Amino acid sequence: MGKVIVGVAMSLDGYSADRHGSLEPLYPSLDALTQTDVLREAIRDTGAVVMGRNSFNMGSLEYWSAGDYEFRVPIFVVTHQPPDPRPTDTPPLTFTFVTSGVEDAVRQARAAAGERDVTVVSGADVTRQILRAGLADEVHVDIMPILLGGGLRPFDDLGDTPLRLERLEVRPLPVEAGAGTHLRFRVVK
Ligand SMILES: NC(=O)c1ccc[n+]([C@@H]2O[C@H](COP(=O)([O-])OP(=O)(O)OC[C@H]3O[C@@H](n4cnc5c(N)ncnc54)[C@H](OP(=O)(O)O)[C@@H]3O)[C@@H](O)[C@H]2O)c1
Repeated sequence: MGKVIVGVAMSLDGYSADRHGSLEPLYPSLDALTQTDVLREAIRDTGAVVMGRNSFNMGSLEYWSAGDYEFRVPIFVVTHQPPDPRPTDTPPLTFTFVTSGVEDAVRQARAAAGERDVTVVSGADVTRQILRAGLADEVHVDIMPILLGGGLRPFDDLGDTPLRLERLEVRPLPVEAGAGTHLRFRVVK
């Protein structure tokens, strides 16, 4: 069975989106990012994605229905209310709106991913819930060379028990992709 990987890009001062909810200051070029070995490997190894509804809402219905998302796998969107209309599935990219919480979303995503990994895409809310519930096996962070001074903080409010991590890998990202540093950690359980 694959791993559950929480993936997040953040500024050096710990923000995963700026005060306006934008990722733009973190990534100067999403095109260049998709050319990196780090993202290519993530795409190869990911068999399903769990996504928060706010992250889903960052793309339009037309965008999701076009099937251009980099992870062409089943996507499980955690939400209280599925969208109406819903995006069109373009298999293997399909959408399941999960209203029964993060544990169930991860369970369904694991089943869909088979031997491959489940990647969690969320600015903060769903990421935090998955970490708090002890569902993550690895945390992958792209630290981008910018101090945003405010915005969304993915690793706040994780509870009173520290989450111990073991470093697995440190890799520089190319200058064209923002010159960040890709870090991988295993969650010590
Ligand atoms: N830096 C990065 O790596 C990265 C990645 C992705 C996104 N982002 C940024 O992060 C922001 C989005 O992140 P976010 O933390 O605001 O939100 P999120 O985690 O993407 O989604 C949160 C939403 O999911 C739904 N939800 C969460 N838990 C639920 C539960 N247990 N049961 C049912 N529904 C639940 C709720 O939406 P409803 O109540 O509306 O259903 C909630 O408002 C955007 O600004 C985006 O640009 C950054």
